[in-house]
Amino acid sequence: MYEKIQETASWLKAKMPTHPTTAIILGTGLGHLAEEIDVTMAIEYKDIPNFPISTVEGHSGKLIFGKLGDKDILAMQGRFHYYEGYSMKEVTFPIRVMYELGIKTLYVSNASGGTNPNFNIGDMMVITDHINFFPEHPLHGKNFPTGPRFPDMHDAYDPELIQLANTIGAEKGIKLQHGVYLGTQGPTFETPAEYRMYHIFGADAVGMSTVPEVIVAHHCGIKVFGISIITDLGVEGKIVEVSHEEVQKAANAVQPIMAELIREMVRRS
Ligand code: HPA
Repeated sequence: MYEKIQETASWLKAKMPTHPTTAIILGTGLGHLAEEIDVTMAIEYKDIPNFPISTVEGHSGKLIFGKLGDKDILAMQGRFHYYEGYSMKEVTFPIRVMYELGIKTLYVSNASGGTNPNFNIGDMMVITDHINFFPEHPLHGKNFPTGPRFPDMHDAYDPELIQLANTIGAEKGIKLQHGVYLGTQGPTFETPAEYRMYHIFGADAVGMSTVPEVIVAHHCGIKVFGISIITDLGVEGKIVEVSHEEVQKAANAVQPIMAELIREMVRRS
């Protein structure tokens, strides 16, 4: 795996027009931001050696080098989900490559079901911590030299970036919730009993991504900011049927505000 990472990184290094230190995973909710990127070079995942290929509806697969405002960035348009059948090593492969390319800060977004009774559909939740509920650990196996065998997970979500989000939110009147994101394998949404259990466990929101990427980024010493759009509610008495389409619809409505927040954070960080 290490050789493959090196091979992919070398291939990209020989082509990349800029040397960004900031990367953004344009998950659900950040599609809008993609349109604001002044693209210098975009490469489809299928053309990148060793890269897995995204298959899920609503996610295309491209690695983008460009500028957001006046900042050089690297963006992943489309990510790899465990439920698609990828191994954890594949899901987190791009993060390992990012590290090799010199990325120091990672922004990541997702959609999730809120289990906190104070949340509403359309809320944005700054991820302050996570619970890893995936059945396979991304650091399982031989340790990579990027970090320790037993990594501390205290500040997996960078406190300074959270503070920056709060400052910008207050300035711009953007309402932000804060909470713990629990990552599950999917692809089923939760039963009412599962939502209840996750809430008792300490989760404010539950989704099917992000946790593996964050663990690997943290192991690489990359600072992370995570944000989640609450697209449905797993709160007793408020649970209704969920579909992928509804998740997309709820996320789309929030996109412009989300883009504004992240754009401003990238500018100031
Ligand atoms: N559960 C899991 N993943 C999700 C949800 C949910 O309720 N909503 C959006 N992604």
